[in-house]
Amino acid sequence: MGDDFLWWRDGIIYQIYPRSFYDTTGSGIGDLRGIIEKLDYLHDLGIDAIWLSPINPSPDRDFGYDVSDYLSIDPKFGSMDDFDELIQQTERKGIRIVMDLVLNHTSDQHPWFQESRSSRENPKRDWYIWRDGKGIGRSPNNWISIIGGSAWEWDEAMGQYYLHMYYKGQPDLNWRNPEVRENLLDVFRFWLGKGVKGFRLDVFNLYFKDEEFHDNPVRPFHLRPDQQQALKFNCDQPELKDTLAEIRKILDQYNDAYAIGETLLSNPGKAAGYCGENALHQAFLFDFLECPWNAHRFSSVFDQWEKSLGRDRWPNYVLNNHDVKRSASRYGQGEDDDRLKVASAMLLTLRGTPFMYYGEEIGMREVTLKRSQILDPVGLRFWPFYKGRDGCRTPMQWNSIENAGFSIGQPWLPLHPDWRERNVENQTKDPGSLLNFYKELIVLRRSEEVLVKGEIRLLQDVPNNVLAYERVYLTKKARIYLNFCQTPQEVNFAKEEILKGFSNKRKEFHFQNTISLFPDEALILFSSD
Ligand code: NOJ
Repeated sequence: MGDDFLWWRDGIIYQIYPRSFYDTTGSGIGDLRGIIEKLDYLHDLGIDAIWLSPINPSPDRDFGYDVSDYLSIDPKFGSMDDFDELIQQTERKGIRIVMDLVLNHTSDQHPWFQESRSSRENPKRDWYIWRDGKGIGRSPNNWISIIGGSAWEWDEAMGQYYLHMYYKGQPDLNWRNPEVRENLLDVFRFWLGKGVKGFRLDVFNLYFKDEEFHDNPVRPFHLRPDQQQALKFNCDQPELKDTLAEIRKILDQYNDAYAIGETLLSNPGKAAGYCGENALHQAFLFDFLECPWNAHRFSSVFDQWEKSLGRDRWPNYVLNNHDVKRSASRYGQGEDDDRLKVASAMLLTLRGTPFMYYGEEIGMREVTLKRSQILDPVGLRFWPFYKGRDGCRTPMQWNSIENAGFSIGQPWLPLHPDWRERNVENQTKDPGSLLNFYKELIVLRRSEEVLVKGEIRLLQDVPNNVLAYERVYLTKKARIYLNFCQTPQEVNFAKEEILKGFSNKRKEFHFQNTISLFPDEALILFSSD
């Protein structure tokens, strides 16, 4: 890659859910030393940055997304010394650390909230959102929490309600209070000072709420709790813009520092609106996570995303994270990984930053849990209609020895029954494995700048089941053909010299006027003007 390599634009960001990556103490929970021990693996894989799901102290009502201290490390993951070492060792390997900042809310165990709820006169009273009810037993307005039920919790001792857009153990901070804002901005400064390069901002577009606390418009026929009302007055409020600009100003004081926002209820226009100058570097669009296995659906997402972002803002793509069913179970058929190769080729050759999620590279499947094994508060609440997010957060499958080599203790969540076969060690040895396919693609991406920097254009004249696009950079051209179905598909080929080819299904790249794509084939052809 050229000298102008910009890590968050040109590189690959890999999300680690620390509880489940590698446990060095036998506690059954992964830890920072575990990540340090696996850095060679990550370096060989070829990633450029690690996004760590929260590692701040947390009572774990929402597994780290309920923080009780923003400026330290949860002892279950290790110490600040371990963190400093992680920064040093990753720097040596050219890997950056992206912290997950959960700044919309804290844990109810955070000392700020403890103070805030201690008396109405407490100086931190206004650090959270307290309101009188509309009458006995009647909450201040109709807002519902994202995970269902009222967003207001009655506090008997205080005789008032507090707002929680998630679980009641996650009270929302009052970003309108200048002291709160300053303290939260200091969180960025603190971690930047430690050598962190980037931040993923949890539900950043919830930070501000309507000052008048108007009722939200109701949508009576929606089943999903987060869709039963339009979040007109508690999401995407205009005041957010200035705060994002303040955050950006801090980031711009550091070389290459970066922030990506988790856009609640994302759509291309909305997510794009939060990116750019005086705003975030990137915002997540989650449309891929909802796409069925359908070439057209994927192409229309990236087409709209490209159009919404325009020339000056850079896309990002994600197939997995800690909140959704794993793509291997959404798309994979049984234990077959062919489709996952097609999906990974798409992720790594679209124009935009690819985000990977631990275990995606070995095709880890969603784990089906019994009711008694569920730990996620969302799963506990909605069982059996929705079983929660534990299934995509299970331990990384490293090898075929005890507990897949994740821990010598009892893992905090069960492993997938396929772990003896599906693991890093086995796939490293198998030249045709998904892991080796990811590695080869990543090497290819690094060596062929056109895959990173090239303009992108959809190729229209292809069968419905084929997603095809062209990338062009200077004199180089790459054409990517992804066959989404299990029958061969013919595509036209304007005869030209192929400089190089890459495929999961063939080794020879000579064509006449057509290419017959194999079932589940991902084919990349390089040529030049
Ligand atoms: C979004 C996070 O991704 C999710 O895991 C968490 O439960 C909520 N925000 C609340 O912080």
